[in-house]
Amino acid sequence: MTASASDERAARALLDWYIAAGVDEAIGETPLDRLAPPPAPRATAPAPAAMPAPAAMPNRAAPARVAIVGAADTRALAASCATLSDLEAAIRGFDGCALKATATNTVFADGNPAADVMVVGEGPGAEEDRLGLPFVGASGKLLDRMLAAIGRDRTSTYITNVVYWRPPGNRTPTPAELALCLPFVQRHIALARPKVLIFSGGTAAKTLLERSDGITRFRGRWLDYRPGEVDFTIPVMATFHPSYLLRTPSSKRETWRDLLAVKHKLESLGAG
Ligand code: URA
Repeated sequence: MTASASDERAARALLDWYIAAGVDEAIGETPLDRLAPPPAPRATAPAPAAMPAPAAMPNRAAPARVAIVGAADTRALAASCATLSDLEAAIRGFDGCALKATATNTVFADGNPAADVMVVGEGPGAEEDRLGLPFVGASGKLLDRMLAAIGRDRTSTYITNVVYWRPPGNRTPTPAELALCLPFVQRHIALARPKVLIFSGGTAAKTLLERSDGITRFRGRWLDYRPGEVDFTIPVMATFHPSYLLRTPSSKRETWRDLLAVKHKLESLGAG
């Protein structure tokens, strides 16, 4: 057997092992800064790679280097948006978040932007990334059932996330990614200005409410949320995320109570 045939066999065996272990994407667990300047050229040519590089995916080209990369910049960009359409266009055109480089679609929102209730979740998963809509996978189906339990659907609810691109492998967005997107999310909430907010899950609730304690410490209570530099607050209920409920059905009882509180709050505000 030649050396290259044995290399190929070893590479195939390694690939089979990855597949058997459940690896379905050729990406790492730690975020890669695709916006960093390229490394200086090496003095000598690198040795040829043992395995061929995976083919580039069409939607995953690294964005060209961009000028806007910090939360101060996203805050200025978000503040310049006078309408939800302006904001959607700004976010779709924004190349400063590294998550965009590995995502297929920008996931802005779904539902009715004029609804009295706005749900903010963590971030798109695989199905959401494929379809470009939030909460359309398994947890979205449970969210739809939870909303139906209080007489709502996507014509009477507005739905978004705290990041607009799928984190690779469905990992939790990093603090830097959350901080970068935060001004967009605050502006999103301020422009939609629902009567009541639901923060779905610890990542959304802790990011928006700037809390470091676990969601179990503050879910189920009404809090006031000020979305950025505005002169109003919106009552918010933080509650468990549907994907957590799929793993921990025993917490559905508390979530049901949270949703009933949302229903009663809407009634008391005359929102029905
Ligand atoms: N989980 C979320 O938090 N958001 C989605 O859009 C889908 C799953």
